Amino acid sequence: MIDETRIQDRGAAGEPAPAELGEQPPGEARAIRGGVSAALAHDSGAKHVSGAARYIDDDPELPGTLQIFIAMSERAHARIRSMDLDAVRAAPGVAAVLTVADIPGQNDYSPVFGDDPIFPPLEGEGAVVQYVGQPIFAVAAETLALARAAAKCATIAYEDLPAAIDLDAAIAMADEAGEDLLPPHEMRLGDAEAVLKTAHQRLRGRIEIGGQDHFYLEGQIASAIPGEDGDVLVRSSTQHPSEVQHNVAKMLGIPDHAVTVEVRRMGGGFGGKESQPALFAAVAALVAVKTGRPAKCRLDRDDDMVMTGKRHEVRIEYDLGFDADGRIEAVDFAHFVRCGYSKDLSAAIADRAMFHADNAYALPAARIHSRRLKTHTVSNTAFRGFGGPQGMVGIERAMDRIAFATGIDPLDVRKRNVYPAPGSGTGPASTPYHMPVTDSVIGEILEELEASCAYRARREKIAAFNAANPVLKKGLALTPVKFGISFTTSHLNQAGALVHVYKDGSVTLNHGGTEMGQGLFTKVAQVVAEEFQIDIDQVKITGTTTGKVPNTSATAASSGSDLNGMAAQAAARTIKDRLIDYAVERYHVPRDQVVFEANRVRIGNAEKRFSDLVGEAYLARISLSSTGFYATPGISYDRDNARGTPFYYFAYGAACSEVVIDTLTGEYRLLRTDILHDVGRSLNPAIDRGQIEGGFIQGMGWLTMEELWWDEAGRLRTHAPSTYKIPTANDRPDDFRLAIWEKGENRSETIYRSKAVGEPPFMLAISVFSALTDAIIAAGDGRAFPDLDVPATPERVLAAVDSVRGAA
Ligand code: MTE
Ligand code: MOS
Repeated sequence: MIDETRIQDRGAAGEPAPAELGEQPPGEARAIRGGVSAALAHDSGAKHVSGAARYIDDDPELPGTLQIFIAMSERAHARIRSMDLDAVRAAPGVAAVLTVADIPGQNDYSPVFGDDPIFPPLEGEGAVVQYVGQPIFAVAAETLALARAAAKCATIAYEDLPAAIDLDAAIAMADEAGEDLLPPHEMRLGDAEAVLKTAHQRLRGRIEIGGQDHFYLEGQIASAIPGEDGDVLVRSSTQHPSEVQHNVAKMLGIPDHAVTVEVRRMGGGFGGKESQPALFAAVAALVAVKTGRPAKCRLDRDDDMVMTGKRHEVRIEYDLGFDADGRIEAVDFAHFVRCGYSKDLSAAIADRAMFHADNAYALPAARIHSRRLKTHTVSNTAFRGFGGPQGMVGIERAMDRIAFATGIDPLDVRKRNVYPAPGSGTGPASTPYHMPVTDSVIGEILEELEASCAYRARREKIAAFNAANPVLKKGLALTPVKFGISFTTSHLNQAGALVHVYKDGSVTLNHGGTEMGQGLFTKVAQVVAEEFQIDIDQVKITGTTTGKVPNTSATAASSGSDLNGMAAQAAARTIKDRLIDYAVERYHVPRDQVVFEANRVRIGNAEKRFSDLVGEAYLARISLSSTGFYATPGISYDRDNARGTPFYYFAYGAACSEVVIDTLTGEYRLLRTDILHDVGRSLNPAIDRGQIEGGFIQGMGWLTMEELWWDEAGRLRTHAPSTYKIPTANDRPDDFRLAIWEKGENRSETIYRSKAVGEPPFMLAISVFSALTDAIIAAGDGRAFPDLDVPATPERVLAAVDSVRGAA
């Protein structure tokens, strides 16, 4: 029995008898600030815009910090016959020049397959490089300019080997070798081949879908500080601190416990900081350990674009069977995925493209085949949607073609094919990977958006506009999104958190998720504030560190708040339960009479401040710190048979976009976009709106303007904003109407029934691509369906217009 609660160290009221508990300063709010569902600003929003938010390059440098430049291969595929680095070593300011020979442990920074060398491995006749931009050696010098200048003094003799730069060459090379980079994979539902043969109408086609550079505002960066006993502290701009930790340890040949990785925030990740930061962290750690000095490796924009992987380029060949009403009977999709030189995350990404080949549509029969091909270009990697967007472009292209072939409005074709709502009488339809879709709300969302954006009336107006205007042509499209939430590698769906409550009632929150601008830290802090019923400013948000929460998954697959929100809630609940136990015992009240309410706790008929209860509990020697853990229930996937329930639930949304094209130049404007998006019950509508708008604009950039171009020698010629165009504020539609779906509620038991929002809105931008298609069809007076690849740059739009007009 605890009875010694009188001792006070903070001057608060002494031990109160239950009857005295009711004292509250008058006028105190009855609701907390910043609980769940509050439209709070991002916790660092003001700091982001004022420049006060600190990124790794803003950290004060320790005296003696070395700056690192990584020298890159100039050849796409070559054997290094000789490499003379004497002049590099002798150059002014150089402290160390490191090659593969300096790596004490494993020369690898790959996430899964062990095929991403930090520096080209020495082999019999000389190391082989596999893309222009591949790291060859590193120079550490007093300044970055000196390191860069020194690297230029290297003499390297290459012997060129045959290189496959584009997909055609990759397919030819793979066919000749009889082997792809990764084994092909297939999903089957019903007998698509047989149904296609007897389909009412049949259509074949193909679309080329380009890649995308992440163009995070903060480039790749890592710093390393050598510690005692060979330990090293790494600051890395990473979505995956645990993997950076493991890769650094593996490279140094030391246990994971000797490496600590920290990240307060990234200036954007978008998937580009899942697997790749391990390279820069490994190089920085190697320099630190070899020289005993702090070291920093920061890429400039051009080097970052040349050296790091991008969204996968995918070719999709489709074969469609459908009836006169536009209903799909069977589809066959063949994906050809350009992986680059190594495997990286390509297996899972190419799988996710397949998982989303159906998008929101119930396909009675489907075959989805995927080949994963090697090119001698940078290894492609995770990028918002993780292959899903590419898969979805395939089926949305099919919808537009079916609409054209049947003469039915594309929206009607889409509506006739969507997954039915639960309880609609038609029973859940199954995805091509045999998962029943039991939570479809897409029909309802399409109906609501169609009405709210006045689709039919605008369709008529646009037809009239197009009839009257020979030069300018408008297009309209309304497209759905269904996106599966969970890592499809089931074991990754776990998270941990650590919560401390201090004696004064303030709280420190830490979890395994990372902040890249998406607002994860704010959302998880809201969950903890809600759990304790304390104001959000009582909850300190702290940077991610492997020293506090171990063995975390990447903050990816949009599941950051689903996983870490639950883990943090679990940690807070443990502490709260201890506080309740204490109050029950101390004040002799039943458990259900201890209630947490707006910065206070009601105990029986009395009340006390949260901070006072915490102070008492401390004196009663109650632990006020706890970890929390969460693992998503009920998901499993049998990849060998391409069957299972890889997703906990689906996120849905729809967008309607209207464009106008200039048929003389191919230039276009996005005039208006209406979005209705399902985030379940929003944890934070302000942040969710930011994600929806940002995701849409980034998707639009991918589909319409961002073009990667490699020359025949495998050199990326679009490696800076001068040659690679991302959307600007000026590309945002003047009329942008964005709504969170008010009826949204997650049928699965997620944190406060919210839904993930990080990636799904990206694919709302497919409406822009379809609207461009629609406008081009109008330019040809409906005579022909245009060939149009991604990105639909003005150049491609102009060519498509010319071809549909030539088809007359
Ligand atoms: N939003 C911002 N501002 N910056 C980012 O880097 N990354 C996206 C998305 N939204 C990103 C972003 C990607 S690729 C993912 S997977 C999710 O955020 C990851 O965060 P979450 O799981 O917390 O949503
Ligand atoms: Mo996001 S592509 O899953 O990092």
